[in-house]
Amino acid sequence: MVPFQVWIGVAALFPLLFPCSLAVSEVSCADVVPMKWRRDVISIADFGAVGDGKTLNTWPFKKAIYRIQHMRKRGGTMLYIPPGVWLTGSFSLTSHMTLFLGRGAIIKATQDTTNWPLVDPLPSYGRGRELPGKRYMSFIQGDSITDVIITGENGTIDGQDSSSNVCIEDAHISTGDDLVAIKSGWDEYGIAYGRPSSGITIRRLTGSSPFSGIAIGSETSGGVDNILAENINLYDTGFGIHIKTNVGRGGYIRNVTVMNVNMNKVRQGIRIAGDVGDHPDEYFNRYAVPTVDGVTIKNVWGLDIQQAGSIQGIRSSPFTRICLSNVKLWGAGARYESWRCMDVTGAALGVQPGPCSELANTVSAGFCSGAF
Ligand SMILES: *[C@@H]1O[C@H](CO)[C@@H](O)[C@H](O)[C@H]1NC(C)=O
Ligand SMILES: *[C@@H]1O[C@H](CO)[C@@H](O)[C@H](O)[C@H]1NC(C)=O
Repeated sequence: MVPFQVWIGVAALFPLLFPCSLAVSEVSCADVVPMKWRRDVISIADFGAVGDGKTLNTWPFKKAIYRIQHMRKRGGTMLYIPPGVWLTGSFSLTSHMTLFLGRGAIIKATQDTTNWPLVDPLPSYGRGRELPGKRYMSFIQGDSITDVIITGENGTIDGQDSSSNVCIEDAHISTGDDLVAIKSGWDEYGIAYGRPSSGITIRRLTGSSPFSGIAIGSETSGGVDNILAENINLYDTGFGIHIKTNVGRGGYIRNVTVMNVNMNKVRQGIRIAGDVGDHPDEYFNRYAVPTVDGVTIKNVWGLDIQQAGSIQGIRSSPFTRICLSNVKLWGAGARYESWRCMDVTGAALGVQPGPCSELANTVSAGFCSGAF
């Protein structure tokens, strides 16, 4: 796993709920990331943790994970979190473990960041995202780890981040930032690091955010492909679906499908843009122009949308094979604006209000037909 390739509600300290994904679904994460049962089970309570919402349990979490790492059990270990509010500072997961939150279990990030560890920037970022130099460690972090499962019986993680070849499903997220953001490195650092975010499934997600619901980018210098997001419910959100990159990023965004999306009270329904975000420093390569190819957005129903959507490609690298199919975004009164497009080719079938003329509205657009 590569930390930060997928950011789940990056503004920590907000609830991220994981209902038991094995119980429900027709299709589940288990198809994407194999679920495993661990024979070795330990409880955080055995390490002196107290689930009273007041005791700081950073040390018990570290001890428990140290035990998993160093007393390697065949088949890995499950760390069970019983019902209770388990306050803790940040900690790192290790390979071959399951973090299992029992019903009524809440892992809560301490608000006291004075002792929050600062760590080196990700190699794919070159510097801290918000500031030069170091960055705050993620609440629950994993660096080059494999075979890790976070699941449970609808427990809550108050603040979280993560990686590639991932599946996120049955989650309710509410954050001060994007609900789910898929990224893969920042300009020259991301290009040099060269690790794509690939094979990511996001399913049955509900939430609201002042920023974006489903976001890809803008830091996609390692490339992003084979993304499927489906059955998404968004309300009170800035941008419903936001795919963004910038000159200097290099890399690519391709084979992305977002489908079966409901939106309510969203500022802009769909935005795909090639001029978003800043640069880590002045050494980025102005000729590192990203490509965006093969983005399908289908079966979208939105009410109370201020602006339907905009697609703004890059002049020297127009976005190609952009497919909008069965997308209905209804506005709220006078503030409502229709689509805007530039430097893009593709098709739009069954889109209301009718999108820009750049997108063909005939079924002859093979890549977009059958998208219903
Ligand atoms: C899971 O928890 C959320 C919020 O705590 C609640 O709204 C939801 O009904 C719960 N789901 C189940 C299956 O218990
Ligand atoms: C596109 O991505 C999907 C996952 O969303 C994957 O199943 C499919 O094989 C990919 N297609 C290609 C041509 O790589």
